[in-house]
Amino acid sequence: MTVITCIEDLKRIYERRVPRMFFDYAESGSWTEQTFRENTSDFEDIYLRQRVAVDMSGRSTASQMIGQNVSMPVALAPVGLTGMQCADGEIKAARAAEKFGVPFTLSTMSINSIEDVAEATTAPFWFQLYTMRDTDYVSRLIQRAKDAKCSALVITLDLQILGQRHKDLKNGLSAPPKLTPSTIANLMTKWRWGIEMLGAKRRNFGNIVGHVDGISDSKDLGAWTAESFDPTLDWDKVAKIKEDWGGKVILKGILDAEDAKMALKVGADAIIVSNHGGRQLDGALSSIRALPSILEAVGDQVEVHLDSGIRSGQDILKALAMGASGTYIGRAFVYGLGAMGEAGVTKALEVLHKELDTSMALCGRRRIDELGRDVLLIPEDFEGRWQA
Ligand SMILES: Cc1cc2nc3c(=O)[nH]c(=O)nc-3n(C[C@H](O)[C@H](O)[C@H](O)COP(=O)(O)O)c2cc1C
Repeated sequence: MTVITCIEDLKRIYERRVPRMFFDYAESGSWTEQTFRENTSDFEDIYLRQRVAVDMSGRSTASQMIGQNVSMPVALAPVGLTGMQCADGEIKAARAAEKFGVPFTLSTMSINSIEDVAEATTAPFWFQLYTMRDTDYVSRLIQRAKDAKCSALVITLDLQILGQRHKDLKNGLSAPPKLTPSTIANLMTKWRWGIEMLGAKRRNFGNIVGHVDGISDSKDLGAWTAESFDPTLDWDKVAKIKEDWGGKVILKGILDAEDAKMALKVGADAIIVSNHGGRQLDGALSSIRALPSILEAVGDQVEVHLDSGIRSGQDILKALAMGASGTYIGRAFVYGLGAMGEAGVTKALEVLHKELDTSMALCGRRRIDELGRDVLLIPEDFEGRWQA
């Protein structure tokens, strides 16, 4: 039995167990993958200050995100096609998150539907919305999230048009996979994934198929998604969606202080400093490098969360100490899910929790609210000095 000590271990098992096209789908950034790489490597430019002889008993990572209690300030990010990484993947990930006491965010582009996840869980989850041209469909989707008692709407702002990920085109990514000779050859080495998938509740997009006229299977769906995202999305539309929703709103995909100020104006309850895990604008700053200027612009007026590049509890600690009040993991939980289903997501959360808790202690801090920039050694030019 393999001893799993870190997120990288889960990734290795994940790579062995899941069909290549879904591994590649997760493990890609757009174009040259510069931003994808720097999201993780930039964390290494920040150092932690080791402190000693500080009483480290009675520690806790408990905190709050948008007023909700969390066992650690780490939510599961919305990840499309999670149910292709593992049969009923969204249900399994949501259950693991619920048991761990952290929020789960369901993607619009999930395989399990809003209703499937609501039925399988008791804690309210968050729903991530992609805005579509079909406003009736968006209204119905919002209503379904309300009916499912979702406790926050996460509106993603950085994907009105798709950043190109070369491997998805080369692999002919689809859900379920199209049976080409090379896919069949690869699937034959992933028998366990295949057997579980045969018993899955769904194998295509649960929030869409059956809810949009004329979409009955995945053949129409690829074309539908390419055509259907709303390229005219602007701040007025964001404000209107917020009003229709009427509950807590988190705006995802903010990477610039000016946009953070706009998010504040429309009354967001939180923003997520994010570049979509390096999957959209290649050449954009890593999230951790963009964080300080956004905190400076709006940090005292709105909750600032961060995702993209988190692979360890030390990364979480750095983001929180820099001033984020919450973080999200995308790939880190997908690796666990693909490796070992629900138990793998739990394992990913346990690994991150232990790393966060121990590293906090070694920095001489016992609680999340004791974390501040004095825990960090940040290079003077970390944010970069850019020409006006
Ligand atoms: C495979 C994959 C699918 C994703 N699908 C969505 C999605 O449907 N909606 C969304 O808002 N973000 C999506 N994201 C972005 C994540 O929510 C998150 O921003 C990103 O994964 C964070 O970076 P990390 O993977 O390095 O943690 C996706 C990311 C990945 C890796």
